[in-house]
Amino acid sequence: TATETKNLRTPIVCVMGHVDHGKTSLLDKIRGTAVVNKEAGAITQHIGATEVPLSTIRSLCGNLMSGTVVIPGLLFIDTPGHHAFTTLRSRGGALADLAVLVVDITEGFQPQTIEAIKILKQFKTPFVVAANKIDRIQGWTPTKNGPFILSYNKQPDYVKTAIETRTYELVGKLSDLGFSSDRYDRVRDFTRNVGIVPISAKTGEGIPDLLMVLIGLAQRFLEENLRMTVTGPGVGTVLEVKEERGLGFTIDTILYDGVIKVGDTVVIGGKDKPIVTKIRALLKPAPNREIRVEERFDRVPKLTAAAGVKILAPGLENAVAGSPLRVAKEDSVEAIIKDVEGE
Ligand code: GTP
Ligand code: MG
Repeated sequence: TATETKNLRTPIVCVMGHVDHGKTSLLDKIRGTAVVNKEAGAITQHIGATEVPLSTIRSLCGNLMSGTVVIPGLLFIDTPGHHAFTTLRSRGGALADLAVLVVDITEGFQPQTIEAIKILKQFKTPFVVAANKIDRIQGWTPTKNGPFILSYNKQPDYVKTAIETRTYELVGKLSDLGFSSDRYDRVRDFTRNVGIVPISAKTGEGIPDLLMVLIGLAQRFLEENLRMTVTGPGVGTVLEVKEERGLGFTIDTILYDGVIKVGDTVVIGGKDKPIVTKIRALLKPAPNREIRVEERFDRVPKLTAAAGVKILAPGLENAVAGSPLRVAKEDSVEAIIKDVEGE
């Protein structure tokens, strides 16, 4: 029914990988934004979140997309690749239903690539590898925004060989870490083999293919996940505590399960003790906007997981990034305070 479709949980896709391998650029290409240009030294320093609706994915995939898709879209989480941000990477990894591991195909596996794989392994998160920057392979002639195979077939043999050689280097590294993998067009069962999609975040090539593999994984995830529809009290993680002009202290939060409403009582991890407060406003960035840098928000009365949301409530000056947020009913506040203290 329509209500069921409306409450289908949006899968959370975490984008991980070594510094400068192109995570934010990939998301920029998908969203049609230029977040990279707003980052100091093009280094991501916080976790970000962007809701990408199915309509955007459909228009990027073009002819590649066939069959019915039930998911409402994907919530992409951007993570920093710089070595200093291990905590943020594992926080992102813990939230993820699925992941995209971005590897610069010209550099191959680097320390934070391996660190990311270990996090994905720990949480048993299904993932796809985006072998990025194929436009930097010598001799590559781009076909903008096209499917990978279409571009690949137009390349001279030495370029094809370079792509194949580098892809097999990735297959070898993944094998060392316990994963069997292959180029995505040679993979039949993405639950057994990791697909490697050669892409360019600069030219957009391969992005349709990458999104198709992701949608396939997401549909599978929803089929296997018992909590396909969301109804329970909201559960989330605080990404950042920010003082906003005219609003006071706010928290950027990822709601990863359940429902949250204006007026709900919430328990949030605080500096000395959990904060118990009432939600005054829920501020949602527009689709395809990065919550980390966005300045315009829509006030909404209610939100269903998964979503990135800026929350306004009294007492948030003592909230702590990385701590849990839980919606509490009248009779459950005490128990939830104990839970939050324990987390
Ligand atoms: P951190 O968030 O700091 O870990 O980096 P990141 O993985 O988000 O990388 P980012 O998107 O900031 O890209 C790093 C640099 O690589 C930028 O200068 C991008 O323009 C460039 N870049 C990213 N993708 C591509 C690509 O496909 N081709 C080319 N030629 N350059 C790219
Ligand atoms: Mg980045």
